Amino acid sequence: MLLRERFHRLAQHPRYRALLFTEDELGQAPAGASPQRVEEYLAGRFAAKEAVAKVLGTGFLRGIVWHDIEVLRDRLGGPSVTLRKGARRAAEENRLSDISVSITHQGPVVVSVAAGLSS
Ligand SMILES: CC(C)(COP(=O)(O)OP(=O)(O)OC[C@H]1O[C@@H](n2cnc3c(N)ncnc32)[C@H](O)[C@@H]1OP(=O)(O)O)[C@@H](O)C(=O)NCCC(=O)NCCS
Repeated sequence: MLLRERFHRLAQHPRYRALLFTEDELGQAPAGASPQRVEEYLAGRFAAKEAVAKVLGTGFLRGIVWHDIEVLRDRLGGPSVTLRKGARRAAEENRLSDISVSITHQGPVVVSVAAGLSS
């Protein structure tokens, strides 16, 4: 769960945006939307990355960085997760596959839930 207000301070800085989000994630932010909607969209990605990092069991430790968890829009508008580098290794070590997330935002709050299959 994330408070929009907390994210707002981070999202002001282009340097932080670039640190947190891949070019494709930033490129998929809704074109022509208000700055508030773009921030809401990115806050959802931020919360989703945190939720996935928890499913991996490590959080952002052991070489997992924000770009290793990419959350893009699928063709119906839902979030789709791709793991790379450290995040992918953590998933393999923990025998996790098929990680999916949901994102919801309501007023000042953004919530994301992630789940993965373990074998
Ligand atoms: C998807 C839906 C349940 C979202 O509910 P909502 O009350 O409008 O909004 P919420 O805040 O709970 O959820 C919004 C998030 O749902 C996610 N979402 C959108 N479409 C989704 C889908 N088809 N499947 C799963 N998640 C979806 C997105 O992550 C979205 O946030 P984001 O655009 O900032 O990433 C609802 O809008 C719906 O059924 N829409 C029909 C499909 C649709 O219109 N798709 C639009 C793209 S063509």
